Formats: sequence, C-alpha cells, structure tokens
Amino acid sequence: MRNLDKFIINGNKPLRGEVTVSGAKNAVVAIIPATILVNGVCRIENVPQVSDVIIQLEILQQMGAQVRSMNPTTVEIDCRHMRNIRTPEDLMRKMRASYYLIGTLLGRYHKAEVAMPGGCNFGGVRPIDQHVKGFEALGAEVSVKNGFVYAQAPQGLRGANIYLDVVSVGATMNIMLAATLAEGQTVIENAAKEPHIVDLANFLNAMGAEIMGAGTDVIKIRGVKELHGGTYSVIPDQIEAGTYMAAVMATGGSVLVRNVIPKHLECITAKLIEMGAQVEEMDDAVRVSRTGPLRRINIKTLPYPGFPTDMQPQLAAALCLAEGTSIITEGVWDNRYRYVEELRRMGAKIQVDGKVAIIEGVSELTGAKVRSCDLRAGAAMVIAGLAAKGVTEVEEIAYIERGYDNIVEKLQGMGADIRRVTVSEEDAVPMAR
Ligand code: EPU
Repeated sequence: MRNLDKFIINGNKPLRGEVTVSGAKNAVVAIIPATILVNGVCRIENVPQVSDVIIQLEILQQMGAQVRSMNPTTVEIDCRHMRNIRTPEDLMRKMRASYYLIGTLLGRYHKAEVAMPGGCNFGGVRPIDQHVKGFEALGAEVSVKNGFVYAQAPQGLRGANIYLDVVSVGATMNIMLAATLAEGQTVIENAAKEPHIVDLANFLNAMGAEIMGAGTDVIKIRGVKELHGGTYSVIPDQIEAGTYMAAVMATGGSVLVRNVIPKHLECITAKLIEMGAQVEEMDDAVRVSRTGPLRRINIKTLPYPGFPTDMQPQLAAALCLAEGTSIITEGVWDNRYRYVEELRRMGAKIQVDGKVAIIEGVSELTGAKVRSCDLRAGAAMVIAGLAAKGVTEVEEIAYIERGYDNIVEKLQGMGADIRRVTVSEEDAVPMAR
C-alpha cells in the first residue's frame, strides 16, 4: 500500500522557542553498517529515529545481527553471529546508504552481493564508480549485473593508494570501511571532509581502527586485524539544525537550536547572517533570530566546508521571500531543482537554467497542495508552508521522514501549526498536474 500520509500546515506564524537536534542521519547510516566489522557489541547513542535508520537496522537483523533498542536513541548491535551475508533486496532498494554494506561485507567477509542502492533520486544518475575504483584498488573484483553489485576478494584486501576523481562522501566512507581490516596501509587522496566522515573515523577508531587525517583531504588507514566493541555517541545533525534555522529565516522569529556543534554550522550561519539573521553561538547551541527584512544572497553549493547541497532547497524556500533576486548555483549534483515546480505552485518566482536557479523574491507565498520530491525538497516544502499565507498540504512525506526525526512535534514545539494526517487510499484525491 502506498504511503499517502501528509502534513497540513497553517502558515504565516513566526517560530519561537527551542528545538533539540537529533543525531546525524548521514553519519549513523554509515556507522550502523560499520558494526559488521566489529567483533563485539557496539552501543550507539544519539541515534535519530528516522526511517532510514529503521530500515538499516532491519537489514542487519535479517542478516542475523542482534539488535537491541536500549531507549529511543540508543541501540546495541552485535554482528558476531551474522549468518547470512545476502542482503535483503527489497529493503536495500529503499535507501541510498545501503551501499555501505558493500564496503563492510567486503572488509569482513571478502565478498558482497548488494542490490544497487535506491534513496532520493534528484532526477539524474547517482553513480558509484569511485566506490568501485576504490574497492578494485584494494584488490576486489567488482561487477554490476542485473541491478546488483558483486564484489569479491578471495585473497583478502590489501592497502593501496587511491585518488578520488571526484570528491565523494559515499566513496570516501565506503573505502574507509573496506580498508579498516585490510592488510597494510590505505591512503585516500582528494577525500571528502564532511563532519560525518570524521564521525565514522572516530567510531571506527573507538573500536580499535587506525585511521588518521579524517576531516582533511588525505586519509590514512592502517589496517588492523580486528575491531572490538564499545560505546559511541553520534554527532548532531548539521543539516537538521540548518533546516530549522532556515525555517526561522522564512517565518521570522527567534529559536534556540540545541545539541549542535556550531563549527559544523559555520558555512550555513555565514549565509543566514548575510540574509539578515542574528546568530548567537554558544558551546552546544545557537540562537537564530530574524526580525528585520530578509535580504537576497547568492549561494554556490560545494563539498564541505563549502555550503552544503543538502541545505540548498531549504534556503531556496526562504529566499523566495527575500527582497531582490538571489542566485543559487548547485555545485555537487547535476540536477537538484525538481522542487522548484512545487514552490511555483505557492507563488514563488524561480527560473532554472541547468545548475543555476534565479529566485526573484515575492512579498508572500500562498498555501497550496505540494509534494516532496526528495528528502531535502520535502523539508523545503515544509519551510515554504510555514511561511505561506493559508493552508499548505505537503504530500509524499515518506521522503521527509527518511531523515527528519519527529519533525512535526519539533515544529509544534516552536509554535508552528502543523499536523500529520493519515490518508487511506480510498480517501485520496489525485492531485491535478
Ligand atoms: N559521484 C561520482 N561517482 C561516485 C560517487 C559520486 O561521480 O562514485 C558524484 C555524484 O554524482 C555527485 C558528487 O560526486 O555529483 C557527490 O556525491 P557523493 O558521493 O558525495 O554523494 P553521496 O555519498 O551519494 C551523500 C549524502 C547526500 C549528500 C551528498 C553530498 C548520504 C547517505 N548521502 O551522498 O545526502 O547530498 O553526500 O554531500 O550520506 C541527503 O541527506 O539529503 C542527501 C542526499
């Protein structure tokens, strides 16, 4: 049965109060598969309750891992008695990060057979050639047939020097995972530097790995024989924090965003200040306020520490209401503007030409029925709905729930008028398009 649930938002109200950010989705979706490499029990804390995490835990369970929820944000995973290294295809296709199973299964069993990942589709291809290049350099044979990736290294993996042709978060993490138990030293050059890469390296090191340089563009991994169990707390989600900050920019108001690492937010806060925000940084919180007009800005998305592509749609939603014309250049993905058509339904004036979007600010957005095209596009619809006059219905919210923990409750806590409604297939009225 299709998921027809939706969010109903009564907009045009400033956000006030505080919100607590959950653990980073894009870190935990690599840390959970990484437990396959560990010969012991891993206790992972600050785990966000999002559907991508639920799917990944289910995948591990189906493969024979023992998974115990200790409380809503802490999980214990024991992969020592994993029996079945075949990955469940239907679940694998539901998410992008399932590709980390290739690196971890290759690392531990020297063999992986994994369905090609699903997840958000931005309208173009999402290649994994750099992952494959890395596995081959480590001595694996890799082929892609009938929608599956087959990888094997009967002689085991051996450390190698790998230069990434494009800065890829997924390839950096996947090669790191495969190389952790390989023989000898691996060097990844032109590595991605995102906070979640450092977090994965910190997790692996806490379990006994020897990884140096994560967070720079050269990462060295000295292979170790075995990893041991331990406890690890996932970093806060930089993009979830940024999303709520962007929402305050769109609606006006003032919110204390708790459980953040302000350093990870620098590239976002710099842009919000240009847009007219007041941002006050504390040790593990930031207060973002906007009382004056919203100013136009230009943004170019780039790998970290550049402005994150995963914040591009949310800021675009806020910029629809800025004075003047803003220009966004998408520097990571070929196509990440499918949401523009939805914003236009709410009165936004946006032109897209290839990687560039030109947003001419309007004085108001008006509520409409819109859909989430992907996770961050869905967040952009929520932001637009919070700022718009009238009622906005956001459909296809399963995308949003892949990566935002309790978004409705968190927004309600900041005074938003938003609710989630369950719609049965019979009640659903098709959207005219
Ligand atoms: N690329 C290649 N070859 C590869 C891998 C990537 O050409 O083998 C290209 C991509 O086509 C893209 C660029 O390199 O143009 C960057 O892709 P990257 O590999 O960094 O992306 P990813 O690892 O697949 C992760 C996040 C995305 C986020 C990107 C960029 C996860 C699970 N996903 O994807 O997050 O947009 O990094 O920061 O970590 C999201 O959370 O909404 C999301 C889509």
